[in-house]
Amino acid sequence: MTMVDRINTASRKVPVWVLYVAGALWPAWLLYLAATGSMGPEPVKALEQELGRLALKALILGLLVTPLRAVAGINLIRFRRAIGVLTFYFVSVHLLVWLVLDVQILSEIWKDIVKRPYITVGMGAFLLMTPLAITSNNWSVRKLGPKWRKLHRLVYPTVLLGGVHFIMVGKTWEADALMYMAVIVTLLGWRVWQVLTRARVQKPKQPLPT
Ligand code: HEM
Repeated sequence: MTMVDRINTASRKVPVWVLYVAGALWPAWLLYLAATGSMGPEPVKALEQELGRLALKALILGLLVTPLRAVAGINLIRFRRAIGVLTFYFVSVHLLVWLVLDVQILSEIWKDIVKRPYITVGMGAFLLMTPLAITSNNWSVRKLGPKWRKLHRLVYPTVLLGGVHFIMVGKTWEADALMYMAVIVTLLGWRVWQVLTRARVQKPKQPLPT
C-alpha cells in the first residue's frame, strides 16, 4: 500500500460531521482564549487576526482539494462542502467580531467600510462568498444544475480578495501575507494552466456533491 493509499483509506474513516464539529468549536475556543486573557494585551485585535487567518487557510484548503487529487491522488472531495461551509462560518465570525467587539457603533460601520480600503476588500470577499454559502445545500445543487458549478467559480475572486485584504491589513509588506498570496496565485495559476492546456486531469468529471 502506497502512502497516498494510506492517506485515502485513513481519510475515508473520518466522518464528515467530525470536521463540522471541530470547525464549529474552533472559533469558540479562540473566543474563550481571548476572553480569558490568553491572547495578549489587545484580545479583540488578536481574535480578529486569528479568525482572519483561519478563514484564509480554510479558503486555501478548499482550493487545494482538486489539485491534491489531480497531482497527488489524495482524495478529499467528500470534505469539500464542509470545508466551504466552515470557511463561510469563519469569515462570518471574523466579521461579527469586527462589528460587535471592535467597531460597535452602527454609524461607524459604513464609514469604516468606505474609508478603509482593506475593509472594503474584505467586505467584497464576504459578499462574493455569500451566494456560495446559500447554495451549498442539496436542493440548490439540484435546482441550479450546471449553473451551480459556474456560480462556484466565485471562489477564485473570493480567495484573491482574501489574500489582497491580508496584504492591505499590514502597514508594510508583511512576509506572512505575501506567502499566503504566493500560495493563492500558484493555486489559481494551476487552474488557468489546466484550462489553457485543456489537460483536464480529473477523469471522470468531478461529481456534484450529494
Ligand atoms: C474572505 C473574507 C476574509 C478573509 C479571508 C479575511 C482574512 C483576514 C486576515 C488573514 C487578516 C490578517 C490577520 C493577521 O494580521 O494576522 C484579517 C484581518 C482583519 N480583517 Fe479580515 N478577512 C476577510 C473579511 C473581512 C471582513 C468582511 C471584514 C470586516 C468588514 C474584515 C476585517 C478585518 C479586520 C478589522 C482585521 C484586523 C486588522 C488589524 O490587524 O487591525 N475582514 N482578515
